[in-house]
Amino acid sequence: MNTTPTSTPKHSIAVIGLGNLGQVLAETFLAQGHPTTVWNRSPGKAEGLVAKGATLAGSAAEAVTASELVIVSVLDYETVRQILTPAAAALQGRTLLNVTTGTPAPARELAAWTAGHGADYLDGAVYAVPQTIGTTEAFVLYSGSSDAFTTYEQELKLLGAATFVGTEPGLSSLYDMALLSGMYGMFAGFFQAVALGDSAGIKATEITELLVPWLNGAADALPGFAQEIDSGDYATETSNMDINAVGLSNILNATRAQGLGTELLAPLQALFERQIDQGHGAASLARAVESLREAYVPTTDPAAVPAT
Ligand SMILES: NC(=O)c1ccc[n+]([C@@H]2O[C@H](COP(=O)([O-])OP(=O)(O)OC[C@H]3O[C@@H](n4cnc5c(N)ncnc54)[C@H](OP(=O)(O)O)[C@@H]3O)[C@@H](O)[C@H]2O)c1
Repeated sequence: MNTTPTSTPKHSIAVIGLGNLGQVLAETFLAQGHPTTVWNRSPGKAEGLVAKGATLAGSAAEAVTASELVIVSVLDYETVRQILTPAAAALQGRTLLNVTTGTPAPARELAAWTAGHGADYLDGAVYAVPQTIGTTEAFVLYSGSSDAFTTYEQELKLLGAATFVGTEPGLSSLYDMALLSGMYGMFAGFFQAVALGDSAGIKATEITELLVPWLNGAADALPGFAQEIDSGDYATETSNMDINAVGLSNILNATRAQGLGTELLAPLQALFERQIDQGHGAASLARAVESLREAYVPTTDPAAVPAT
């Protein structure tokens, strides 16, 4: 009896776009023994990868033809379209994974276009810098074809923790926009804090030393707020809208008194005030999200309908 262990054949992978991210993606697959074909507008960027065993394709279509999983990592969706249009016929039967950052609508359009050429589509939102790809710090959110995710899950896990967030192709991008919104909100608070400190001669570094642990502690309130938002039950005995509106009003007044602009926090006060005007002053601060929801109109744009 032959007892030689059989190893599963490695999927062939193309990486199109060898910028900072694409380089590391290709290196990661090469290091794990995957047949890896690369293509980049400026072919010189492929030299190091070719030295490590990658095949340099003469065109994007050639890279697609050579591979089961085709990963595109370029500047923007317009560039993705420009690169893939001449390679469209080669996509049949393959999986396209696009990790180029964008918004949900073009991800849906690209998924529909890809399906029209007989290929599966995955959209990936990468939470890593090239240096952390493949480490425990990195994670990637995927949406689109669940079959494709299952087929290539082992390869995707080489890049970082891999989470499939849903079959609607724009979802990973929507998650991305949501998480980045939280980050920019935090940055906005930081800019406000250091400007206020600076107006009184306090160094940004001094404020930041206190701010970081304070924000880490404040982040602990978010899961509770999230539960209130999901349940729609905003009853609270702790931090209500009235008390926070007074607190924020104090901050705005102090900011003006220091001769600084209030552009960052004044809109937040407007959200609080709308809730108070509607009689929700005793409700949890989390109810501020309802002021944003007032402006939400469900779209009837056919381009926004998830591609099947
Ligand atoms: N770097 C990160 O930390 C990171 C993390 C998460 C997500 N991302 C996303 O991943 C994507 C790539 O990021 P990156 O950091 O690798 O960017 P990058 O280093 O600036 O590389 C850009 C890539 O796009 C190509 N490109 C630009 N314009 C082109 C055109 N008109 N035609 C053909 N190719 C073109 C470049 O080709 P040339 O070499 O010929 O210029 C290069 O391969 C972006 O969408 C980015 O938001 C990056």
